[in-house]
Amino acid sequence: MSTFQPGQATVFHAASEIAQLTRAWRKLARPVVLVPTMGALHAGHLSLVTQAKRIPGALVVVSIFVNPTQFGPSEDLAAYPRTLETDVEKLRAIGADAVFAPAAEEMYPHGPRTMITPGPLGDILEGASRPGHFAGMLTIVHKLMQLSHCTHAIFGEKDYQQLLLVQQMVTDLNLDVQVIGSAIVRETDGLALSSRNAYLSTEQRELALTLSAALTAGAYHAGQGPEAVLAAAQAVLEAQPSIAVDYLELRGAQLGDVDPRGANRLLVAARIGSTRLLDNVGIDFGSEEVTGQPRPS
Ligand code: PAJ
Repeated sequence: MSTFQPGQATVFHAASEIAQLTRAWRKLARPVVLVPTMGALHAGHLSLVTQAKRIPGALVVVSIFVNPTQFGPSEDLAAYPRTLETDVEKLRAIGADAVFAPAAEEMYPHGPRTMITPGPLGDILEGASRPGHFAGMLTIVHKLMQLSHCTHAIFGEKDYQQLLLVQQMVTDLNLDVQVIGSAIVRETDGLALSSRNAYLSTEQRELALTLSAALTAGAYHAGQGPEAVLAAAQAVLEAQPSIAVDYLELRGAQLGDVDPRGANRLLVAARIGSTRLLDNVGIDFGSEEVTGQPRPS
């Protein structure tokens, strides 16, 4: 067993060892906060850890595991960046307590077998583009919650549908975990931080800005109603024909029908070369009259 020292990002590879540590922590009636990641950590991931550390008395456990069951056969499982050493350094610098970095055989000793079914929310948007992705994601998140004995788990709004599906799983399966959503961290020019940004060439990085630009254009037209929001975002994407858009959709905050008087979400997924990027933004129509003019921010 690794020698555990709080705040030192002690690395655990064995499921039994992280389970032993977190069980002991819970026996002291202290919270355990899980931050699940696939590594290649950037400031977006680190913001989740910082948020976790704000929970008084918490043991902050960051998992780093490139989960094979959430990758499709033609996706980037083999190429996905694996940078454990620098990840652990970053986590130590911000005072994470424990890092759980298992091998695939540790998490799936019998291969993928019992899996969690996401339900209809898993069939739209990302689920339609990536069949099986959310079953793999929910299965590993459930396993990580079990092993870490977590009281809280933190997810980024960057993967908005993922966050809702995890919340739904916790409700539907009566898991005693509080799921916390955290705002998207962006570069100063608007690009949402993503481990997959590392795949982009300089020119592709420029093109990638189109995603956040489209969402910003959409949000700017919130005062003119749903059609104007979509049309404005669409126009920005269409001006860059080399971007292959998987979807651009405006939906209610729970990803159902648009609420013309309330909180909604504008979501985009697109491929730039072979790199698939996601982004989303809140669009609030509020209860104001639709004036035909953008609302002041
Ligand atoms: P990964 O893509 O590594 O993301 C880990 C967490 O970081 C997710 O909750 C994601 O939404 C959040 N995140 C990523 N980029 C962010 C950004 N720019 N701002 C804020 N948060 C951001 O999502 C996964 O891994 C996996 O599906 C996982 C949940 C770990 C299950 O395998």
